[in-house]
Amino acid sequence: MDLTAFFTMSYGLYVVSSEADGLKAGCIINTATQVTAEPPRMMVAVHKDNVTADVIARAGKFAVTAIDKTADMPYIGNFGFRSSNTFDKFEKYGEERTGNGCPYSPQHICAVFSCDLIETVDVGTHYLFIGDVVEAERVSDEEPLTYSYYHSTLKGKTPPKASSYQA
Ligand SMILES: Cc1cc2nc3c(=O)[nH]c(=O)nc-3n(C[C@H](O)[C@H](O)[C@H](O)COP(=O)(O)O)c2cc1C
Repeated sequence: MDLTAFFTMSYGLYVVSSEADGLKAGCIINTATQVTAEPPRMMVAVHKDNVTADVIARAGKFAVTAIDKTADMPYIGNFGFRSSNTFDKFEKYGEERTGNGCPYSPQHICAVFSCDLIETVDVGTHYLFIGDVVEAERVSDEEPLTYSYYHSTLKGKTPPKASSYQA
C-alpha cells in the first residue's frame, strides 16, 4: 500500500475544546469536518489518549475553532503539544464561552462552532464525536490555516496522536 497517497488529502487546522467536572481541555486537530447541512452537523476525530476525548465524552458537548493564518508555532504548541491535565491551555490566549458553555480561546481564529454531542463512534485509536452545531460565528476575515500551510510555511510536524500520523 502506498501510504503517501494520504498526503494528497486536504485539511484545515482546528482546536476542539470542552469542559467537564471543572477540567478544561482542548487540542489541535486536523480532523474536523461538516458532515450534514440540514441539520448542520460536524464531526471531529480525537485520539483516545488525549485528555480532550475524555472531557468531551463526559461533557456531551464541544467547541471547534477554525485556526487562521495569524497563528504561529507557539500557538500550535500550546494546544497541540501539551496535556490539558498538567497545563491550562486557555491562560495565554484568553478564554471565552460558547452559548452551550464550552471554553475556547478567541485569538488566531476565524470561526467558532458550538456542538451538542449526538453520537460517538469508536474507530480504534480515535473516537469520532458527531455533534449538532447549535451555534456558529464567523469571527474575522482572516484566511483559515490549512494543514498544507502548516507543513510548508510553518514547517510544523505531525505528532503521533494526529489521525494522519505516519511513522
Ligand atoms: C498539526 C497537528 C494536528 C493534530 N491532529 C490531531 C487530530 O486530528 N486528532 C487528535 O486526536 N489529535 C491531533 N493532534 C494531537 C493533539 O493536539 C495533541 O495530542 C494534544 O497535546 C492533546 O492534548 P490533550 O491531551 O490536552 O487533549 C494534532 C496535533 C498537531 C500539532
